[in-house]
Amino acid sequence: MTTIITNISCLVNTREESHLLRGKELAELPVIKDAYLIIEDGIIADYGIMDDLIHAARSFSETYDATGQFVIPSWCDSHTHLVFSGSREQEFVNKINGLSYAEIAAKGGGVLNSTAKLNQATEEELFYLAWDRLQEVQKLGTGAIEIKSGYGLSVEGELKMLRVIKELKRKSKIPIKATFLGAHTYPAAYKEDHEGYINLIVDEMLPVIAEERLADYIDVFCEEGFFNAEETERICRAGMAVGLKPKLHANQLSLSGGTQVGIKVGALSVDHLETLNEETISLLANSNTIGTLLPTAAFFLRMPYQPARQLIDAGCAIALASDFNPGSSPSGNMNFVVALSCIQMKMLPEEAINAATINGAFAMELEDEVGSITKGKLANLIITKPISSLAYLPYSFGTNLIDKVMIKGEFI
Ligand code: NIG
Ligand code: FE
Repeated sequence: MTTIITNISCLVNTREESHLLRGKELAELPVIKDAYLIIEDGIIADYGIMDDLIHAARSFSETYDATGQFVIPSWCDSHTHLVFSGSREQEFVNKINGLSYAEIAAKGGGVLNSTAKLNQATEEELFYLAWDRLQEVQKLGTGAIEIKSGYGLSVEGELKMLRVIKELKRKSKIPIKATFLGAHTYPAAYKEDHEGYINLIVDEMLPVIAEERLADYIDVFCEEGFFNAEETERICRAGMAVGLKPKLHANQLSLSGGTQVGIKVGALSVDHLETLNEETISLLANSNTIGTLLPTAAFFLRMPYQPARQLIDAGCAIALASDFNPGSSPSGNMNFVVALSCIQMKMLPEEAINAATINGAFAMELEDEVGSITKGKLANLIITKPISSLAYLPYSFGTNLIDKVMIKGEFI
C-alpha cells in the first residue's frame, strides 16, 4: 500500500539523520514548503518539493491533497502515568481551598489515593481504562508514548500495572515503552520502614519484572519526604543490574539531588525539573542525560515553571512530555504542553516542537522509529487544519488544529 500526500504547505522536521538536539540546535527546525510525502506500508518512503515530484510512472493506492495544511511528526510523549483507576477531582477542589500537593499527600491523598483505587480494579478494567486514554491521546496527535507503573506499590499491584502496560504494547499501533516506578512513594504499611519497602522493590519486584520482561526503564520519585538521593541510587543500580535504564522524577518540589543521582548513574532522562539552581543546570548541560520538562504539571499544581530558557541557553538537551496522571496533570494533550512551553517558559515554537518530537523520541530510545520526517521511520503524522505558520499552533492554544492523524500510514 503506497500513499502520497501532496501540496503540503509545510512539511515539518525533515531530517536525513536523527541526533539528540541540545542548546541552540533546538531552535533549528528543518521544514520543506510546498512538499509531498510518500508512505509505503506504514513507513516514510520519500519526501521532497512538489516541483520535483515525477510520479507519472508511479501509482499510489491513496492520494491525499493537503493544500494549506502542515504535516508534523506525531508527538513523542516520553513521560506518562496513563494506567490508573478513577480520578482525583476532590483533591483538585481541596487545592482550590488552600491545601498544597505535599499536604494532600501527607493526609493519605495523592499517589496513595490512586493506589487504593488501582488495587480495587482488575487487570482487565485497568486495561480498558488505559486503552481509552491511549485512543484519546492518539487523536490529539501522540504517536509514541512511555507509560509508568507506580500506583500499585505492592508486588501484586506493580506487576498488575506492568502486565497491563505489556498488553497495551501488544495491542497498540503506536510504540510504547514501559517504566517500573515501584518507588513512587512509600505504601502505608512501610511508612516507617523505608528499608523494608526498598528491599521489597529490589528482592521481590525486580526479579519478576526481569523474568517476565515487564519494563524497559526504572524510575524513582527522588524528592524530600519520598526517596532521597542515596535510596534513589540504590534502586537505580538494582534496576540497572537487570537491564533497566533509569528515567527519574527529579527536582520537582525541591533541590532533591535527583538530577545529580540521575547523571551519576547515566540516566536516560531526569524529568520535572521545576526546582533547579545554576550548578545543577550546568551539570545537566555537561551530561548525556536528557532534561524532560513537564509544564502541565507545574501549571496544574500552580508551581513555578521549569527554567527552560536557562536550560537551553546552558546547552541542555530538552524534551517535553505530558506527565498524564490523575494527580498533577490530568491531561495528555501534547498540543497544550507545546503551547504552554512557548507561552509560559518562553520556548520558541521551533524549540518546543523539536523537544516534543525528536528529543521526546530520544527520551524513549525510539529515535530510529519516530520523532522526525525521515526515510525509514514510521508514518506517524499530524496533519493540521490549514494554518498560516508554525507559530500559529502554540499561539492559538486550546484550539484543535489537528485535521487528521496518521498512524503507521493509516488515518485513524
Ligand atoms: O509526575 N510527582 C510524582 N508523580 C506524579 C504525580 C502522581 C500523582 O499525584 O498521582 C508526577 O507529577
Ligand atoms: Fe510523573
